[in-house]
Amino acid sequence: MRHFLSTEDWSRDELQSLIDRARAYRESPLGDALKGKSIALLFFNPSLRTRTSFDLGAYQLGGHAIVLDARGSTWPVEFEEGAVMDDGPEEHVKEAARVLSSYVDLIAIRAFPKFEDWTAEREDPLIQAYARHATVPVINMETIVHPCQELAMMMAMQDRMGDVRGKDFLLTWVPHPKPLNTAVANSAILMASKFGMNVRMLVPDEAFALDPRYMGAAERFCADAGTQFSLTTNVKEAYSGADAVYAKSWGALPFYGKWEEEAPLRAKGAGFMIDDAKMAMTNNAVVSHCLPMRRNVKIADSVVDSDAFLGLQEAENRLHVQKALMESLA
Ligand code: CP
Repeated sequence: MRHFLSTEDWSRDELQSLIDRARAYRESPLGDALKGKSIALLFFNPSLRTRTSFDLGAYQLGGHAIVLDARGSTWPVEFEEGAVMDDGPEEHVKEAARVLSSYVDLIAIRAFPKFEDWTAEREDPLIQAYARHATVPVINMETIVHPCQELAMMMAMQDRMGDVRGKDFLLTWVPHPKPLNTAVANSAILMASKFGMNVRMLVPDEAFALDPRYMGAAERFCADAGTQFSLTTNVKEAYSGADAVYAKSWGALPFYGKWEEEAPLRAKGAGFMIDDAKMAMTNNAVVSHCLPMRRNVKIADSVVDSDAFLGLQEAENRLHVQKALMESLA
């Protein structure tokens, strides 16, 4: 039995096969790969795209999705081994995961970190506990990485750019009023590097470097592919010659849980919104974002509404890639 918790555990060829199968589902959306099967979608955080695309995808393959709002309409769950459960949670993940496994064929989980203690949260304890105790495959719908988004991003870039190997991928931090999850940023550099792109990161300050686990993996993937990995605070250097620009905002990990101290560093990126002037420095680049996205804060209207913007195709691709994924795991 195999889980889909992070693309780190999946080879480039396996991921490419999922994308190829997703293209077949785009051409011919219906199938019976999940006939008589079901998936539990467990949401600890809000969603528009993930919830809709998994639910619809299961339906289009003849299966059934059970959407569970884990923030209020299911029992609070304890995840620590050996916990004395004399406080909030009513049941332990050991029972919850095994009971769900006895009902459904797949369990998918969205559980963002709590933004309190990165040392603990970088271990992704909630989904790892489900994966340990479930007896069916577990799919990551975004925790500290967002692997389904990675597949959708790569599919959109390949559709527009063809073979992406050797092309220049820029992940740029963009402004946002509050610190956000690093999941999509981690995922963007994992996928672009695994698929043979040169990867650059643009950040307002080096405190916005991502966890070494992900930057290190991306560096290794680039080294294996003979491509370059770099991090810069220089806008011109970052955008010059880029073939693909990916926008994301995230919180600086050294300030985890003491976010008020991060504010001065966040302010250094006030001019980081993607606009026409920055895009003019690129190699006629495409630009994308996982959505949801604050217009004219992260990316200017003129860029979002241009042909360069792949965000809508990427969002549509979530449906196709997740069908390929459910088919491969169920
Ligand atoms: N990109 C993404 O996962 O969208 P939702 O948060 O709306 O699911």
